[in-house]
Amino acid sequence: MSTAKKQYKRVTVKSLVDMKQRKEKISMLTAYDYTMAKIVDGAGIDVILVGDSASNVMAGHETTLPITLDQMIYHASSVIRGIDRSLVVVDLPFGSYQSDPKEALRSAIRIMKESGGHAVKLEGGKEVKDSIKRILNAGIPVMGHLGLTPQSIYKFGTYTVRAKEEAEAEKLKSDAKMLEKLGCFAVVLEKVPAHLAKEVAESISIPVIGIGAGAGVDGQVLVVHDMIGMTHEFNPRFLRRYLDLHSEMTQAFKQYNDDVKSGDFPNADEQY
Ligand code: KIV
Repeated sequence: MSTAKKQYKRVTVKSLVDMKQRKEKISMLTAYDYTMAKIVDGAGIDVILVGDSASNVMAGHETTLPITLDQMIYHASSVIRGIDRSLVVVDLPFGSYQSDPKEALRSAIRIMKESGGHAVKLEGGKEVKDSIKRILNAGIPVMGHLGLTPQSIYKFGTYTVRAKEEAEAEKLKSDAKMLEKLGCFAVVLEKVPAHLAKEVAESISIPVIGIGAGAGVDGQVLVVHDMIGMTHEFNPRFLRRYLDLHSEMTQAFKQYNDDVKSGDFPNADEQY
C-alpha cells in the first residue's frame, strides 16, 4: 500500500461540529451509486447521504417505506467505493429500527460492517430514543431527522410543511435537544418553517442540516437527482435546480436514436 500522503482531509463527524463552531456551512447531497458518489465527492461536498429516497428515485416507489436493509447496504457499499473525502451517512430504512432497540443496533451494525458507511441516520424523536441510545453505545455515530419524516407519511397523510402549530413545534424543539443530549452528531430538519429551524439551530451545539428549512441552519441537503433536474415532476418551493438534465438527457437519447436509425452512428472513426 502506498504511504504517499493523501491530498485531501477526510470529513468526520467531529469536523462537522467544528464547522458549526466556525460558522462554516455544511454541504450535503444524496448519492446511491459509485459513479454519482465519485462526482459528488470530487466536487467537495462534505457529506453524502445514502438516503432511503433511493426507494423513490432509484426504484420508482411512491414512498420510502419499501426499501430494505439489504438494498440500503447495496447502495451504501457502491457509494463507499466512490469516495475519498466525504463523510458517508446511511439511512436506516423503515422497519429496521422502530420495533426494538436490539433490532435497531443489529441493523446499524450490518450497515457499518457490510457497507463501510461512516454513520447512520434515523427518523424520529422521543419514540426512538432507546434505539438511538443503543446504537450510540456501540460507537456508531447517529444523525437524527425531525420535521417531515417521510417514513411516517401514512401518519401525516401529506408531504406538507410540518410543525406550523405550537404543539408540534414545541415537540420538535424538545426532540432536537434530546438528540443533542443523547450524543447524536447532527440532525436533519425537513420542511419546517425557517424561523423554527433557525431557533433550533441556535439552541443546540450540533449541526442542523436543513431541507426546506430556510437559511438559518448550519447546512443544506438536497436529493441529487432533484437538484440536477433528472427528476422533473417534483417541484417543491425549496428545490433549486442547478441543471436541467431531464431535457438534456432526453435530447441526447433522441439524437442517438436518430443517429442509429439513420446509420449515422457509428461513423468511420468510431469503428475498428
Ligand atoms: O432519504 C433522503 O434523501 C433524506 C433527505 C431528504 C434528507 O432523508
